[in-house]
Amino acid sequence: MKFSGTPRPPFDDLIQRLLSLHRYDHTHQRSSVIASVDIPSGWHVEEGDIGGEGIKPDMLISLTAPKLCAKKFCGPHHFLGALRENYISPEFDENQLEANPIDQFKKWFDDALTAGLHEPNAMALSTAGKDGKPSSRMVLLKGLDKEGFVWYTNYESHKGHQLSENPRAALLFYWDGLNRQVRIEGPVKKVSESESENYFHSRPHGSQIGAIVSKQSTVVPRRDVLHQEYKELEAKFPEGSLIPKPKHWGGYRLKPEMFEFWQGQKSRLHDRWVLIFCKCSDNN
Ligand SMILES: Cc1cc2nc3c(=O)[nH]c(=O)nc-3n(C[C@H](O)[C@H](O)[C@H](O)COP(=O)(O)O)c2cc1C
Repeated sequence: MKFSGTPRPPFDDLIQRLLSLHRYDHTHQRSSVIASVDIPSGWHVEEGDIGGEGIKPDMLISLTAPKLCAKKFCGPHHFLGALRENYISPEFDENQLEANPIDQFKKWFDDALTAGLHEPNAMALSTAGKDGKPSSRMVLLKGLDKEGFVWYTNYESHKGHQLSENPRAALLFYWDGLNRQVRIEGPVKKVSESESENYFHSRPHGSQIGAIVSKQSTVVPRRDVLHQEYKELEAKFPEGSLIPKPKHWGGYRLKPEMFEFWQGQKSRLHDRWVLIFCKCSDNN
C-alpha cells in the first residue's frame, strides 16, 4: 500500500493488529514473521516510518525498483524481486556496529545463515611462502572464537608448506546475496593436536577415510588408485570403528589483526561502507 498521511479504515486497525503481533513476538519469543510488500503500511513513501507508528516488518519485498523509504528499512531481509541479486542488506548503520570486530563478524555471519546463502562459511585463504608468490584457494571456516578463525586441511599441501615458511595469511568472505565482504588478516598457528583430533572424529566416516587418502596438492597417477586405496581403508575401518587421524591432517587458526567490513547497496541505494579495525585485542 502506498501511503502518505493518516491511515484510514480498515488499515488503521490492521496496522495496530500487526504492531501488537510484533510486540507480542518480542516478549513471548514467538516466531511469526511480518513481510511487507513495496511500502510497509503506515510508512511515508520517501521518509519511511516518520511517526514510529508504522509496521516494523522483518522482511521487505520490493517487487520493482525499491522506493526511497526502503533506505530506512532496518529488518534482516530485503527481497528485491525485479533484480537478479535478490537479497540486499539493510542500511549499514554505524551506531549498530559491535565494539569487538569478532562480534561484528558473527552478526554478519548469522545474517548470511539466516538469508540461506550456500556455504556462508566458505572463505578464500591467501598465503605466500618465502618466495613471496601469493596463492589463494577456498577453505571452510570450522571454528571461531576470540582466539581466531579455524579451518582444517592437509599440512603437507601447498598452503601447508607456505604457512610453515611464512605463518601469516589473509581470509576473504564474500556473501554475494547480502552484497557484503569481510577481509581478515593476521598470523597463523596450527591448532593443538587434541583440537584437531576432536574435530577429525566429529566428521562423517567417509570424510575421515578421505582425509587419509587425499594427497592434497600432488598429482595422482590415476583416479582408480585413490578409489582402490579408499576401498581398502573402508574394509580396514568399518563404520563405527575408530579411524586414527593422520599426522598430516589438522587445523590452523588465524588470529585477526585487521578486519575490513564492506557493504554495498544495490539499485538506487548506493551506500558503501568500509570499516577497518586494526590490531584487534580482547578489549577493542
Ligand atoms: C567451497 C570449497 C571449500 C573447500 N574447503 C576446503 C577445506 O576446508 N580444506 C581444504 O584443505 N581444502 C578445501 N577446499 C579445496 C581447496 O580450495 C584446495 O583446492 C586444496 O586445499 C589444495 O590447495 P593448495 O594446493 O593450495 O594447498 C575447498 C574448495 C572449495 C571450492
